[in-house]
Amino acid sequence: MSEDRSTSNKGSLHSLWRMRSYLRPYIGQMTVMGIAALVTVGAELAIPLVSQRVIDGPLADGDSSGLWWLGGLALLLGVLEAVFGFVRRWVQSFCMLDMETAIRNDLYAHLQRLPVAYHDRAQTGQLVTRATSDITTIRRFLGFGLIFLVVNVTLFTVVTIYLLRLYWPLGLLVVLSAVPVAYFTLIFEREYIVASRRCQDLQGDVATVVEEAAVGIRIVKALGRRRTIGGRFLHESRQLRRASLVKVRILAKFWAILDLVPQVLLALVLLIGALAVAAGDLTLGSLVAFVSLVVLLAWPIEALGWILAIGQESATAADRLYEVFDTEPMIADRPGAHDLGAARGLLRFEGVGFRFPGADRDVLHGIDLTVEPGETVAIVGATGSGKTALTALVPRLYDVSSGRITLDGTDIRDVTLTSLRRAVATAFEDPTLFSASARENLTLGRLDATDAEIAEAISVAQADFVYDLPWGLATRIGEQGLSLSGGQRQRLALARAVLGRPSVLVLDDPLSALDIHTEGLVEEALRRVLAATTALVVAHRPSTVLLADRVALLEGGTITAVGTHHELLDRVPAYRQILSAESDSDEVLAGGRR
Ligand SMILES: Nc1ncnc2c1ncn2[C@@H]1O[C@H](COP(=O)(O)OP(=O)(O)O)[C@@H](O)[C@H]1O
Ligand SMILES: [Mg+2]
Repeated sequence: MSEDRSTSNKGSLHSLWRMRSYLRPYIGQMTVMGIAALVTVGAELAIPLVSQRVIDGPLADGDSSGLWWLGGLALLLGVLEAVFGFVRRWVQSFCMLDMETAIRNDLYAHLQRLPVAYHDRAQTGQLVTRATSDITTIRRFLGFGLIFLVVNVTLFTVVTIYLLRLYWPLGLLVVLSAVPVAYFTLIFEREYIVASRRCQDLQGDVATVVEEAAVGIRIVKALGRRRTIGGRFLHESRQLRRASLVKVRILAKFWAILDLVPQVLLALVLLIGALAVAAGDLTLGSLVAFVSLVVLLAWPIEALGWILAIGQESATAADRLYEVFDTEPMIADRPGAHDLGAARGLLRFEGVGFRFPGADRDVLHGIDLTVEPGETVAIVGATGSGKTALTALVPRLYDVSSGRITLDGTDIRDVTLTSLRRAVATAFEDPTLFSASARENLTLGRLDATDAEIAEAISVAQADFVYDLPWGLATRIGEQGLSLSGGQRQRLALARAVLGRPSVLVLDDPLSALDIHTEGLVEEALRRVLAATTALVVAHRPSTVLLADRVALLEGGTITAVGTHHELLDRVPAYRQILSAESDSDEVLAGGRR
């Protein structure tokens, strides 16, 4: 996701502003939280005023009757503070978590809409940190920081006005104290924006390394590369540490200044105030109230540092989110795309060329191929010749770069993705299973499949082993469940593809991980499925190729020969070569097993 790094930091606040649509449903709750926060902090600030009355009234006059009233008021203020503090936290806890969930769901939905080509290049760790910590940061700011920013600024203003009226020379001093705060805030924001972006990006990098190490643990261990991979991790994690230190230092400096300003202010207020009391310009009670209020103002000023820091971090987080949100799904329904309906299954490649987005050369060019309804065509080619790329074009995991692919005569880009993918079923080289039951994995593409259809698909794919799992079809498999062998996973993926008898079946080397015995069984079952379905099957072994009516030889990104297996074997030396290399190794494998 390197292109993301180039994004200018100037847009940060703009991105945060764009998040306002997520706040809109919670305007009412935000108002309640704002008022509650105002009451809480207001009550806290009012207590010194009560002290002023106590000192200037009952204490000065020696009349204790007013004491009860003022004591009751102080108690009431304390209760108000507690109750409204609770209300704010309570409202905040559910509505802000709702908002966080809404953002996260949108991000997830968008990631699902983005094409395979985007995910080819996006680092998983970057996406994971965006979906987790970035969104949490935004929630913390919108649900907490923003409210206190407004509340604190309001209180600072109100208290300052009050102080100005109480004794204007000292009030003016408080007003002037805002000048250094504003100045250092500007400097801080400028430095912090860069540091926080770098930290958040590095967090994504660290997550990527951890993710790769976890997914690739077998290879890492088997090759004895723990140290190398560990070294990469250490490098990333040290960089993150360094960047975090830079961030913390900036924050610490800023905080020190925010701490210093109220202290200096307090010292000056005490000094000048004492002189004023001595001169009789100010009552003792007013000075006590003044000093207490200035002490209490220290908190909003200090909190400003924290609020601005998370504000900046959430602006950066919003930037990172919008980098994903602003990526348009390139593969989407065209305006006016129609439902494919029940497809007969006439699949045609017309002058198809393909280049991976961002790559500098074509993987496929000038592909012309027709697969008649019900026909099976095998694709044979050396590794890297573009077989997988060719199969990925049919369900529109990628779009062709030139030419077109038609199904029943309609360009597949003119029908809805949903109907296309309902008609075209696929199984890939490395079958992915999700952390779910075997049944859920099977019915992923067809949630409405009946038990009979599931049983048939299992039987076709020779995946009967699922019945022997501890809880049968209900057994949880995938990452958080039972591990299956490569062959078992391929058979499940195959069952998933043939479930519900799709019009077009695209199989990318579906039998590669099967042993000779199972392969024979699956081939036998596949023969029955393929008889009724249009199919494009990438094949390596002669026995699989024999399932097909015709074979297309893919060489250098284009189809150089089409014919029956025997025709090609007779006519095309290159075909003979590719298949004999495969069958030799097959014999070796078979020999090894006996
Ligand atoms: N996501 C990708 N981005 C760019 N190039 C790719 C990508 N996937 C594969 N390629 C390249 O495209 C070519 C064809 O790959 P592929 O279709 O997987 O070959 P095959 O399945 O025949 O072994 C290879 O040269 C490969 O390096
Ligand atoms: Mg391949």
